[in-house]
Amino acid sequence: MPAPADLPAAIDALRRERNAVILAHYYQDDAIQDIADFIGDSLELSRKAANTDADVIVFCGVHFMAETAKILSPEKTVLLPDLEAGCSLADACPADAFAAFRAEHPDHIVVSYINCSAAVKAQSDLICTSSNAVDLVKQLPADRPILFAPDQNLGRWVQSQSGRELTLWPGSCIVHETFSEQALLQLKLEHPGAEVLAHPECQQHLLDLADYIGSTSKLLHRAEESSATSFIVLTEPGILHQMRLKVAHKQFFEVPGADGCSCNACPYMRLNTLEKLWQCLNTMQPELVMDEQLRQRALAPIQRMLEMSR
Ligand code: 13P
Ligand code: SF4
Repeated sequence: MPAPADLPAAIDALRRERNAVILAHYYQDDAIQDIADFIGDSLELSRKAANTDADVIVFCGVHFMAETAKILSPEKTVLLPDLEAGCSLADACPADAFAAFRAEHPDHIVVSYINCSAAVKAQSDLICTSSNAVDLVKQLPADRPILFAPDQNLGRWVQSQSGRELTLWPGSCIVHETFSEQALLQLKLEHPGAEVLAHPECQQHLLDLADYIGSTSKLLHRAEESSATSFIVLTEPGILHQMRLKVAHKQFFEVPGADGCSCNACPYMRLNTLEKLWQCLNTMQPELVMDEQLRQRALAPIQRMLEMSR
């Protein structure tokens, strides 16, 4: 069936017909953010997925996010506009290699960033997101060693903020490792009053140049609350759409990738399009389906996170 000319109107009609809620991460295309019922960071989106009354959750984000929604709301139909929308962090931590790593550290509490597969979550004691990782790690018993996976950049930052030593899995995000330090320094020279906002998935040498570090939602709130009127933003540029909508009188600059490439845009997140969003509501495919035993094992550490981060 050909896509209708007015995609937003067609999506809106299908959303009502299906009793669907459209959840979108800040790294989605502007047009998807504009039609979403709720936009948020990973923690906020998982809370929404756990509490929605809708029959269908259309998750405009990446696979691990839709999978988390299914783990939390197994009775709902969870759709992901493009099932190929993965995540380099999740890919960097295969479940069998992770099991071997855990076996080398049997006494450690296992804390995994939500950017991982259900099979890795199922092997974890606690899940965290970039917005609650420091707070959760601080709550862990001081006499127990901690293993942190899969993002070593986030792990190093959590280590510095919590004062806890972490044994790190050596994963990283291809997007947050791409930002050019030279371009950042140039932007700082051109805009001396600008505040530098960074996501903790960035490498340490970039975090050292940041004025404020936090999850996507925290960066957005900082842009609203700060007295600065211009900002250089070290994360996926999708977030700039909400920043510009929320504080239209302020200026925002994205940092390009090294070599001036546009690889600061997440290639996985950007697989979702407005047309695929319409298509999935129309056909109710692709649907996220999971093995029930795996779902139950992955649920416990996510629930622990939600309880501890209240
Ligand atoms: P948030 O926790 O800010 O949503 O980050 C998710 C993510 O994938 C960042 O790359
Ligand atoms: Fe994964 Fe990085 Fe994309 Fe976030 S930006 S979804 S961590 S690849």
